[in-house]
Amino acid sequence: MTREMEFRDRSIIVIGGTSGINRGIAEAFAESGAKVAVASRSQEKVDDTVAALKDRGAAKALGAAFDVRNPEAVAAGLAGFNAELGDFDVLISGAAGNFPALMSEMSVNAFRTVVEIDLMGTVHVMKGAYPYLKKPGASIVNISAPQAYLPYEGQAHVCAAKAGVDQITRTLSMEWGGEGVRVNSVVPGFIDGTEGAKRLAPTEEIRQQVLDSVPLGRMGLPDDVANMCLFLSSDLATYVSGCVINVDGAVYQRGSGYLGQQMGDMLRAMRKSN
Ligand code: HXC
Ligand code: NAP
Repeated sequence: MTREMEFRDRSIIVIGGTSGINRGIAEAFAESGAKVAVASRSQEKVDDTVAALKDRGAAKALGAAFDVRNPEAVAAGLAGFNAELGDFDVLISGAAGNFPALMSEMSVNAFRTVVEIDLMGTVHVMKGAYPYLKKPGASIVNISAPQAYLPYEGQAHVCAAKAGVDQITRTLSMEWGGEGVRVNSVVPGFIDGTEGAKRLAPTEEIRQQVLDSVPLGRMGLPDDVANMCLFLSSDLATYVSGCVINVDGAVYQRGSGYLGQQMGDMLRAMRKSN
């Protein structure tokens, strides 16, 4: 039995892989000598990331610009990746959108937008990739969030969408398990320097409160999440499927606590001052 994580020349697809946590994941696979493809809406971000993946040592790096809300565009993009890279060993699905907003104050379209990106985007990505997954052997990792199981005021849209993502993970681990496809979710905690952390902890005061809520006493790093994705997609994890795995410094053990209320307080204070 191998005790090593080996990705040389394996085909890795990272959807939403052009910034933040997901880009960190794509770069980690590139450093392992894998063939890596990334996708997001911005061609500029795609081009910048592809250049970085080559610098990091990817055996091959390519990208495409599409919106995960468009199932035809997703399917066409994934077909293009398949033509270049062959069947997919690893699929990371992590495109997401988020903004703090109280349910009573956000439009129906605002709520729908997050569901369309996070939840329906995951559906489009998984269905679009299915014909090209290596069977047996493929590993899918959906990037979830603590909102999937911890309620945070001002995050009803994200809570609903990410809970759906994790239930898709669990369900498809059963539907696709017989074909040798493993499906897991990774739940990052608060990851420093990312767009998500900036949006949810916009002031130094809130950032400090977030920090105080993490039992391990530090914010996470993109590498913390990337390392878990490498493990789950490696030959060390061939019996791991249907799992939702926290990479959060044990934040889950404290529940949403005061942080679950604090964003609502911030939004209500902003409402009063307007
Ligand atoms: C209320 C808002 C809003 C806000 C947008 N909307 N921002 N409502 N408060 N701050 C509303 C708009 O008014 C509109 O509704 C609807 O949402 C769609 O907005 P658009 O700007 O047209 O959408 P679009 O251009 O498609 O952009 C999607 C987006 C944007 C989600 C709104 O922020 C985005 O592209 N985000 C991607 C990057 C991102 O969010 N990264 C963080 C991921 S972190 P109306 O009714 O006016 O039409 C994450 C979890 C982090 O997911 C967890 C940390 C612990
Ligand atoms: P980010 O930098 O904003 O990354 C989001 C990525 O998704 C970008 O590459 C973005 O690129 C792409 N994207 C967004 N909307 C898209 C769409 N409609 N179609 C295609 N691509 C789209 O955010 P992040 O903070 O690193 O978060 C990354 C993932 O981790 C998300 O799934 C998020 O929910 C999860 N997460 C983050 C945190 C955190 O602390 N940051 C915590 C828990 C979970 P374009 O703009 O070019 O489209």
